[in-house]
Amino acid sequence: AASDPDLVERARAARAALGDRAFVLGHHYQRDEVIDFADVTGDSFKLAREAAARPEAEFIIFCGVHFMAESADILTSDAQQVVLPDLAAGCSMADMAAIHQVEDAWDVLADAGVVEQTVPVTYMNSSAAIKAFTGRHGGTVCTSSNAHVALRWAFDKVGGVDGTGKVLFMPDQHLGRNTAVRLLGLSLDDCVVYDPRKPGGGLTAQELRDARMILWRGHCSVHGRFTERNVTEARAAVPGINVIVHPECRHEVVAAADQVGSTEHIIKALDAAEPGSAWAIGTELNLVRRLAKAHPDKQVHYLDSTVCFCSTMNRIDLPHLVWAMESLVAGRVVNRIVVDEDDARWARAALDQMLALPG
Ligand code: 13P
Ligand code: SF4
Repeated sequence: AASDPDLVERARAARAALGDRAFVLGHHYQRDEVIDFADVTGDSFKLAREAAARPEAEFIIFCGVHFMAESADILTSDAQQVVLPDLAAGCSMADMAAIHQVEDAWDVLADAGVVEQTVPVTYMNSSAAIKAFTGRHGGTVCTSSNAHVALRWAFDKVGGVDGTGKVLFMPDQHLGRNTAVRLLGLSLDDCVVYDPRKPGGGLTAQELRDARMILWRGHCSVHGRFTERNVTEARAAVPGINVIVHPECRHEVVAAADQVGSTEHIIKALDAAEPGSAWAIGTELNLVRRLAKAHPDKQVHYLDSTVCFCSTMNRIDLPHLVWAMESLVAGRVVNRIVVDEDDARWARAALDQMLALPG
């Protein structure tokens, strides 16, 4: 639905009043009405870099989800304040790993005698506490755009991809598995799934010793719904269609697709596509709809017409953004995201490690 014109006017006025004091970041899954006010849009990697590169902004208004705003707080100076327009904008995948469960998992690995040869790698989609755990144990953060480089780096610390070292990958089992198998040449048999709800993660000590990728049992509720059948049906409906999906999709879906990549990668692939070409896109719907609008000369389809928006990304809407900006104009900082100092220090080590990865 079109936005309320009064609200759009209020948003314009508040944005103008804040001027250079504020910088508005918008993730690609945000609603159009919010994207219209973003100074920069991006995938989670680009937004983390953008947040770190704006030391002059007093306020970073993060239109995205909670773990992204936490990372922005960690990467910015103490004087800068990060605001998340709706505190209920979480991520169900990030919620699948709690810090006490991760600490228990590390004890399980220690009991199996494999902790010395294991490097933790955490996906950006995790709490600051888990990023801090990762930093404390010499690991790195990664995003969907650099997971292969991060994994290679982690394996290099423990003898290389061809050795016997391991990675504990949290919390998205699919990104971990897809990256290890598709881009590093490991096999599905090299991967085991650690289930935090089961004693010992549901794995034997021998299984842990034999594994190369210990994948946390977590997934994205949006991307987890795409199926291999969606790909088969898209190909049957439009011969020659290009199927492009996000690496949070299940392994069978990624294996059946033509291209796999982060939101930024998907956007670039569509920009580079031939006029007249057909695309079936397996990612969140706000982005796919925007791509369809931006490319009227191409056929842009949603990979599964029944899958909906990311409900938490969608919590940031124009009323919340206007409220956050008008509050800042009035001198009230609302919904500030602050990571505690000790966690921030170690999480920063893991985030800095990611930012220092090659490529
Ligand atoms: P990107 O880093 O590809 O933008 O993905 C973030 C995300 O939450 C995907 O579900
Ligand atoms: Fe989390 Fe999935 Fe939403 Fe991304 S799309 S924010 S992983 S629930």
